Amino acid sequence: MLGEDGRSAPTIFAEMSALAVRTGAINLGQGFPDEDGPAIVLETARRAIADGVNQYPPGRGIPELCEAIAEHQHRFYGLRPDPQRNVLVTAGATEALAATLLALVDGPDDEVVVFEPYYDAYAACVALSGARLVTVPLRPPAFAPDLDDLRAAVGDRTRLILVNDPHNPTGAVLDAATRAEIVRLAERHDALIVTDEVYEHLIFDGPHTPIATLPGAWERTVSISSAGKTFSTTGWKIGWVTGPADLVDAVLAVKQFLTYAGGAPFQPAIAAGLRLPDAFFTGIADTLRAKRDLLADGLRDAGFAVSPAAGSYFTLADAAGLGARDAADFCRALPERVGVVAIPLTAFVTAAHRRDYATLVRFAACKRVEVIAEAARRLRALA
Ligand SMILES: Cc1ncc(COP(=O)(O)O)c(C=O)c1O
Repeated sequence: MLGEDGRSAPTIFAEMSALAVRTGAINLGQGFPDEDGPAIVLETARRAIADGVNQYPPGRGIPELCEAIAEHQHRFYGLRPDPQRNVLVTAGATEALAATLLALVDGPDDEVVVFEPYYDAYAACVALSGARLVTVPLRPPAFAPDLDDLRAAVGDRTRLILVNDPHNPTGAVLDAATRAEIVRLAERHDALIVTDEVYEHLIFDGPHTPIATLPGAWERTVSISSAGKTFSTTGWKIGWVTGPADLVDAVLAVKQFLTYAGGAPFQPAIAAGLRLPDAFFTGIADTLRAKRDLLADGLRDAGFAVSPAAGSYFTLADAAGLGARDAADFCRALPERVGVVAIPLTAFVTAAHRRDYATLVRFAACKRVEVIAEAARRLRALA
């Protein structure tokens, strides 16, 4: 994949997943669920394939899914996107991010501000767009940005502020003051805001607040989400963009030459998922909260200092108390030591800042309860 320098390199994710296969360790590294999502979603896709929904869908997405996305934005957030003008279906959030950055960034004079650590595709997409990556640190244990750091990072060269909330890899959720400051700074410097909200329904203490709902934000915000995490369909790669028509059109102009369209039989299935009753959405957060607690207890018992996650699949733990100096070395040894795979946080950090996060490890909680319980049992051998 492309690193922050725009070059291609093997990732620690591939290395750790290979280690998990070779050693038979429990893989709490990669963030994908080991259980299927709602039966109606799976059944609708099966039926669509059987009914011949197997050719190119419209480039914007099938009307039924665009309408379901618009309804979802209204039901949960009070937004009123027009399904024909303000919604675009993409090949996962990843294509949405790539197309958005390629569409909205002009080149080397533009800066893109992101919070660091960041989802690894961000640096790669910024490199592809030719812009300069400017990072604002999120520091343990709360992983909230210092608003002075944010103010210092955003200036007249800032083309856009890219925000992931709830946040991978830290599990943090932005507070109201940070959200408001992002909008204020974007207005002041005439920057755009791009939000990555793929964990919007996996939030543990209260409803998710999209930045697009803040006063003055909609007109300059492209909101991105995806079905993968909400419906446990990470392999389907159905994502979407919502925002003002001119920005969505610009993203569509790039998207048509990336994939053009995709996932025809999955689109009606995700439309059905988005129309599930509220109880489904609160249920997935409740289930994941219980798994997060089980994982966090196991990590604490094993001797890690745990940063409790407010959302997302992930929990961060500091291995310094276990004698670790370098989380990458620690994670490489962990499968042989106790039979568990995790990812060092340095995989999500610019090279220059790796020392600030040297002993932190990311564990995924999106596995079956018995798998997490067994991982916790194995990890206790470290204590
Ligand atoms: C923060 C974040 N954004 C985007 C993605 C990718 O989403 P998708 O699978 O819909 O492309 C992930 C997947 O792990 C993620 O964690």
